[in-house]
Amino acid sequence: MHVMFLLPLLLSAWLVSARNSRSSVNRAKSTNFVSTSGGKFHVNGSEFQFVGSNAYWLSTLNTDKDISDTFQSMSAAGIKVIRTWGFNDVTEIPKNGTWFQHISNGTTTINNGPNGLQRLDKVVELAEKHGIYLLLSLTNNWNPLPGIDNMNTTVPDVSRRDVTPGTDNSLNRNFLSNDYGGMDTYVRAFGLNMHHDEFYSNERIIDAFKNYTTNIVSRYVNSSGILGWELANDPRCNSSLPSFNCTPQTVTQWHSTLAKHVASMDPNHPIGSGSQGFFCTGCPKLFPMSTKPSHPAPRPSSSVNNRRRKLPTAITKKGLITERAEKRRRTREQKKREGTLNADGIRIRGRWASTTTRRQDNSLGPAFDGSHGVDSEDILGIPEIGFSTFQLFPDQNLYAADDPNLSPFNNTLQGGTEWIQKQAQTAQLSGKPSLMTGFGLVTQSNAPSFIPFNSTMVSNATSTSAGGSDNRNSTVGVTDKQRDDAYSQWLRDGISDGVNGMLQYQWGQSNLTSAIGTSISPNSTDTTVAPSNGITISPSQNQTGVSPNDGYSISGIGEDGVQMELKTASQNIGTDAR
Ligand SMILES: *[C@@H]1O[C@H](CO)[C@@H](O)[C@H](O)[C@H]1NC(C)=O
Ligand SMILES: *[C@@H]1O[C@H](CO)[C@@H](O)[C@H](O)[C@H]1NC(C)=O
Ligand SMILES: *[C@@H]1O[C@H](CO)[C@@H](O)[C@H](O)[C@H]1NC(C)=O
Ligand SMILES: *[C@@H]1O[C@H](CO)[C@@H](O)[C@H](O)[C@H]1NC(C)=O
Ligand SMILES: *[C@@H]1O[C@H](CO)[C@@H](O)[C@H](O)[C@H]1NC(C)=O
Ligand SMILES: *[C@@H]1O[C@H](CO)[C@@H](O)[C@H](O)[C@H]1NC(C)=O
Ligand SMILES: *[C@@H]1O[C@H](CO)[C@@H](O)[C@H](O)[C@H]1NC(C)=O
Ligand SMILES: *[C@@H]1O[C@H](CO)[C@@H](O)[C@H](O)[C@H]1NC(C)=O
Ligand SMILES: *[C@@H]1O[C@H](CO)[C@@H](O)[C@H](O)[C@H]1NC(C)=O
Ligand SMILES: *[C@@H]1O[C@H](CO)[C@@H](O)[C@H](O)[C@H]1NC(C)=O
Ligand SMILES: *[C@@H]1O[C@H](CO)[C@@H](O)[C@H](O)[C@H]1NC(C)=O
Ligand SMILES: *[C@@H]1O[C@H](CO)[C@@H](O)[C@H](O)[C@H]1NC(C)=O
Repeated sequence: MHVMFLLPLLLSAWLVSARNSRSSVNRAKSTNFVSTSGGKFHVNGSEFQFVGSNAYWLSTLNTDKDISDTFQSMSAAGIKVIRTWGFNDVTEIPKNGTWFQHISNGTTTINNGPNGLQRLDKVVELAEKHGIYLLLSLTNNWNPLPGIDNMNTTVPDVSRRDVTPGTDNSLNRNFLSNDYGGMDTYVRAFGLNMHHDEFYSNERIIDAFKNYTTNIVSRYVNSSGILGWELANDPRCNSSLPSFNCTPQTVTQWHSTLAKHVASMDPNHPIGSGSQGFFCTGCPKLFPMSTKPSHPAPRPSSSVNNRRRKLPTAITKKGLITERAEKRRRTREQKKREGTLNADGIRIRGRWASTTTRRQDNSLGPAFDGSHGVDSEDILGIPEIGFSTFQLFPDQNLYAADDPNLSPFNNTLQGGTEWIQKQAQTAQLSGKPSLMTGFGLVTQSNAPSFIPFNSTMVSNATSTSAGGSDNRNSTVGVTDKQRDDAYSQWLRDGISDGVNGMLQYQWGQSNLTSAIGTSISPNSTDTTVAPSNGITISPSQNQTGVSPNDGYSISGIGEDGVQMELKTASQNIGTDAR
C-alpha cells in the first residue's frame, strides 16, 4: 500500500480513474472535491489544512436565514469546516421539528419532506455558499434512554426520553447531541437482545443502517460542499445499552464493511471513522499499517512552536511508560530546584522515588489500553478509510496519568498536547491525514449546563479539568481565560504537529428563531412543556433564540475569546504552515 503514496500525483490520478476503488486515499481530482493524498487533504489543487467547529443542530434551525447567519458568523471567525449530524432518527413522528428517519415496527422510512432531508439539503447548499465544507456524521454511538436502557428502573412512561425521576425532562428534542437517534435506536427496533454491539454484528441492523447511508451518501455524492463522511460519532463497544460480545475487532470489522459500502457509492469524498481516536496498544490487528512513514513529516512551523519534530514512531506500551516516567522525572527535578516539590515522593539514597507514580506506571490508562472497545490504529489501516479522526474532551476522558507536581489545569493542558502529538504521529505513520473532530473544555460559567455525551442529565461535578486538587470537591470547569489558553495551545500544537484539521466543540449562535418543539424553543415558561419533575433548568438553557448548550457552547460569555483563538489559528495556517 505505502508504495502508492510515493507515486507522483499524476500517476495516482490515473490509478483513480482506473477505478482502483480499494484506495480512498489517493484521489487527486480535477474537480473541487476535497481529496486526500500523501498524508494531507487537498482542494482546488492546494493543500487544505483548516480550523473549524461543530454544530450538530444545524439542520434543526427554524429558518434558512438562521442557517445562513450561522455560517456567516462562522466564516467571519475563519472557519472552513463544520462537523454536523447527517442523521435524525425518531421512533415516533414528532409533531414539530426536523426528523430524517422513522424507525418503527420493523421498518425504516426516510423523510424527504420539508421538515426532513430538505433541511439538510439547505444546510449543504448554504454551507457551500459561505465557503464552508461539511463533515457529515452518519450515526451516533450515544442515544441514552433512561428507564429503557436500564430495565430495572421503574418509570411511569417508558416510551419517552428523560422520564426517569431526577432527570431533566425540560430539554427539547434535538437539544443534546445524543438526542438524534443513533445506534441504540436501531438496536431497540431491530435487535434481539438489547445489546449495543448488535449494531455492529446483527445482519438486519447492518442492512438497515446501510440503507440509511445509501440515502444520504447518494444524495450528496456530487456535492463539493461535503468534506467527507464520518461513519459514526464516537463508535465503540460501550454505550448506555450494555454490550454482549464486543471487542475492538468487532468495531473495526464493522468499519470495514461500512467504509466499503460508502466507498462503493461515492468515489468523490473521503471516509473517516469518527472515533475518538482511542488506542488498543499492542492489540492484534485486522488491518496492520505500514510501519514506515510513507511521506516526510511536515516541516516545523517557523513562528509558533520551535520544538523539534521527531520522526513518527508506532505507539508501544514500553515507549509510553518510559516517556511518561521521563516527563514526571523532569517535572520533579524542576520543582525540586524551585523548592516547590509536592510531597509525592520519598528520598532514597539521594534519589527520588515516587510511590504513587510507580503504581500508575504499570497501566496505560483507558485512552491507550483498549478499554473503550475501539482500536483507532486498526481502523486507520482499513483501505477505504481515508483519514484519521480523534477528539479531545478532558472533562469526559482520561488521556494521561496525572503528574502530581503539575496543577490540574496544567495536567489537562499537557495531556492534550501529548494526545494531539500521538495522534499526529500515528496518522503520519499511516500516510493518511488526521482530523481532530472535536475538542472542548467546560468553563465555570458553562458548568451548570454540562451534560456528558453519554448522559441526559446535568453533570454533578464530574469535571476533571477543574482548578482544585480534589475533583469531587473543586469547582467544575476552568476559567474562560484558561479555556482560551488551552484552545490556543492545542490549535498551535495541531498546526505544528501537522494535524490537518482541528474542529472546536461547539459553536454557539444567538438571535435564532425559536419554535415550539424544536432545538431552539421559546422560554420554557412560555410553553406548555414546563418541567414537571420540579428540577429547574439552568439559565443558559432558558434563552430564546440561542443554539443548544451542552456545556461546551461558546455562545454568550467568552464567545469573543474563542472566536479570536479560532481566527488566529486559521490565519497562522494561512501564513506560516504552508
Ligand atoms: C406493524 O406492522 C404490522 C405488519 O406489517 C401491521 O399489521 C401493523 O399494523 C403495524 N403497526 C403499526 C403501528 O404500524
Ligand atoms: C475551492 O474552489 C471553489 C470554487 O471556486 C471555492 O468555492 C472554494 O471556496 C475553494 N476552496 C478553498 C478551500 O479555497
Ligand atoms: C437488574 O437487577 C438484577 C437483580 O438485582 C441484576 O442481576 C441485574 O444485573 C440488573 N440489570 C441491570 C441492567 O442493571
Ligand atoms: C433495505 O432496503 C432494501 C431495499 O430497499 C429493503 O428491501 C430492505 O428491507 C431494507 N432493509 C431494512 C432492514 O430496512
Ligand atoms: C459516562 O461516561 C463516564 C466517563 O466519561 C462514566 O464515568 C459514566 O459512568 C458514564 N455514564 C453512563 C450513564 O454510562
Ligand atoms: C503551570 O504551567 C505554567 C506555564 O507553563 C507555569 O508557569 C506554572 O508554574 C505551572 N503550574 C504548576 C502548578 O505546575
Ligand atoms: C451532587 O453531589 C452532591 C455531593 O456529592 C450530592 O449531595 C447531591 O445529592 C448530588 N446531586 C445530584 C442531583 O445527584
Ligand atoms: C470537600 O472539602 C471539605 C472541606 O475542605 C472536606 O471537609 C470534605 O471532606 C471534602 N469532600 C470530599 C468528597 O472530599
Ligand atoms: C441580535 O440582534 C439584536 C437586534 O437585532 C442586535 O442588537 C444584536 O447585536 C444581535 N446579537 C448578535 C450576537 O448578533
Ligand atoms: C407545534 O407548533 C405549533 C406552532 O408553533 C404550535 O401551535 C403547536 O403547539 C406545536 N405542537 C407541539 C406538540 O409542540
Ligand atoms: C426562564 O425564563 C422565564 C421567562 O423569561 C423566566 O421567568 C424564568 O425565571 C427563567 N428561568 C430561569 C431558571 O432562568
Ligand atoms: C427569554 O429569556 C431571556 C433570559 O433568559 C430573556 O432575555 C428573553 O427576553 C426571554 N424571551 C421571551 C420571549 O420571553
